[in-house]
Amino acid sequence: MKKFLAILLVAMMALSALSFASAEAKTYKVGVSIYQFTDNFMTLYRNEIENYFKSLETDDVKYEIIMADGKNDMAEQTNQINNFITQGVDVIILNLVQTSSADALIDQIVANEIPLVLINREPLAYDAEGKTLDEAYEGILNNPKVCYVGADARQSGTFQGEMVAELENHGDINGDGKISYIMIEGDPENIDAQYRTEYSVKALTDAGYTVECLDDQVGNWDQTKGQELCANALTKYGNDVEVVFCNNDAMALGAATAIQTAGRTVGKDIYLLGVDALEEAVQLVKDGEMTGTVLNDHIGQSHAAVDVAVKLLNGEDIENYYWVDYVKVNKAYVDAQ
Ligand code: GAL
Repeated sequence: MKKFLAILLVAMMALSALSFASAEAKTYKVGVSIYQFTDNFMTLYRNEIENYFKSLETDDVKYEIIMADGKNDMAEQTNQINNFITQGVDVIILNLVQTSSADALIDQIVANEIPLVLINREPLAYDAEGKTLDEAYEGILNNPKVCYVGADARQSGTFQGEMVAELENHGDINGDGKISYIMIEGDPENIDAQYRTEYSVKALTDAGYTVECLDDQVGNWDQTKGQELCANALTKYGNDVEVVFCNNDAMALGAATAIQTAGRTVGKDIYLLGVDALEEAVQLVKDGEMTGTVLNDHIGQSHAAVDVAVKLLNGEDIENYYWVDYVKVNKAYVDAQ
């Protein structure tokens, strides 16, 4: 009987310790809105946000992630933010559908005193009077609870151009003294698309090379569109196309298919560049079917975003901008890994 009572006492103590521990555990609600779930790169990014939050959980701190698909529709994303506010989320991580709508959403989130981490699409929107977002909205990004985590797309564009400049023939396959290229762009509203388009070419002209743009089309970050645009350009300009610049790897994977179908050979009679370093693209670089890509570090960026979100949850001071470096990924780099 004594033994039974002792066991009962121990069991009761264990139970109350357990309930005490779980009463102590704090669960933070984190609202994450991604501009579009079908985007290849943002899929890696959002999965890592979830993994990393999970890895930071302790007995005392849990994170409930509410992950929403913006479906590339600003109205849909605005609804999601409203829902986050109603649900009383403790912090929001936001990958904007339209950076030009940043001001309204940021205002609303700030007015509800919810800390905000903007990711991947830098809200560099200019208003009608040509003011930057910061000037127009009285430095909203300087709000102590708002920040942006991203990578400087100028660097990725420059790396693409440099990888062409570093080739033995500097991208001038037919030796006519100029590098003839086609450009396949991401969503033109994104600063990433604008900078990559500009800086890939700038790296070549800065190095003293002459360039000729045969075609410049919008593929909206999409593989199927990239394939279609590249196929059309190859039909139209044939062997004149020496370099295919794609603002991201999804479109470059499409272009790689179009290049093969057209009977062209990367590294021999054409060059192909992307950005992101998706696994499939890195494999193509390894196999010589892509000239190069640029690592868009989704691990570094997602971890930086989560780390700063946690700081905000803890009431710690933060910076307004966090930058993560790109890395040049050509065959020499891949072979050395
Ligand atoms: C870029 C990335 C693209 C696409 C885009 C979405 O940084 O290179 O693949 O994900 O972000 O905004």
